[in-house]
Amino acid sequence: MALLPSKGVVISVQTLVLSVATAAILLCFLLFSLTASSPPCSCPTPAIPNSSIRIGDRISTSTEDINWVKRQIEANGLHMQQNVLRKGINPRTRQQQLEDLRQFKGISHYDGEEANNHTALPCPGELLVEEHHSNYGEPWAGGRDVFEFLAESARLTPSSRVLEIGCGTLRVGLHFIRYLDPEHFHCLERDELSLMAALRYELPSQGLLHKRPMIVRGEDMDFGRFGSGTMYHLIYASAVFLHMPDKLVWTGLERLVSRLKPLEGRIFVSHNIKFCSRLGGEECTKRLNRLGLEYLGKHIHDSLLFNHYEIWFGFRRIKA
Ligand SMILES: C[S@@+](CC[C@H](N)C(=O)[O-])C[C@H]1O[C@@H](n2cnc3c(N)ncnc32)[C@H](O)[C@@H]1O
Repeated sequence: MALLPSKGVVISVQTLVLSVATAAILLCFLLFSLTASSPPCSCPTPAIPNSSIRIGDRISTSTEDINWVKRQIEANGLHMQQNVLRKGINPRTRQQQLEDLRQFKGISHYDGEEANNHTALPCPGELLVEEHHSNYGEPWAGGRDVFEFLAESARLTPSSRVLEIGCGTLRVGLHFIRYLDPEHFHCLERDELSLMAALRYELPSQGLLHKRPMIVRGEDMDFGRFGSGTMYHLIYASAVFLHMPDKLVWTGLERLVSRLKPLEGRIFVSHNIKFCSRLGGEECTKRLNRLGLEYLGKHIHDSLLFNHYEIWFGFRRIKA
């Protein structure tokens, strides 16, 4: 079908519809670019490049993130190199740094009386050179992997409440403390040196003192000091239960069940659950059920920074 205007030029309906649509799109585009703050017109939304998409409240690193880092490394021509001595960048072992600190007080120019020491929170040299990052034999950076895995598995939000049993020097805990609302991270830890590292070095150096984590010294699975009303979304033990007598682990679980949110809350234990499997499969399940717990299975998660898989065992509370 064709229209016949007065001057005798023939325009097909398709051409007319196409022209009107093109004009409308151009007009929309013009209005959109002129009034960036005004409500968008009904033009088709321009496709957003993948790199700017963050899925929901994603916690773990995305493939896009990794590709972006790789591109930055490539664009800057960076290569793995030997850590060679060069001007201004002198490799120093922790031990050498510690000796410097002791001998010269680091780079401090304070030469007054020790009695007038101005430092608000004096920190032992061993912590300043981060000896405690090597205390547990596992790479320090793995703490981030553990956090990402646990936080996403337990579907945490910043208002969730978390308890770590044996948080050590906060290798993992730091990431939870940063993510959670103030006072929402609790930890029971028995080792004094680790607690010193956590409170004197890690929290101040990461600017996290304002998060007021509740870190309590203790080794008897006594959670009384955390108050009676707190319900946790996540309770976890990273490389801890394997170092404890089975009896103490069961005592802890018995005391913790009533503090775990029914159904949605999770308990995660790393490495192995010999405290349970040593009883035999059936007896292990029965004992868990008597406590009101259900075993949810084994999970393996991968590390971003080094070739490493960690095993986690999940549990939930089945009775209200
Ligand atoms: C291998 S470290 C792991 C530290 C931390 N969870 C991590 O993944 O980096 C084990 C920690 O559990 C603590 N621990 C062992 N038995 C404990 C107990 N009965 N009560 C509290 N903490 C305990 C140790 O003091 C140590 O800090």
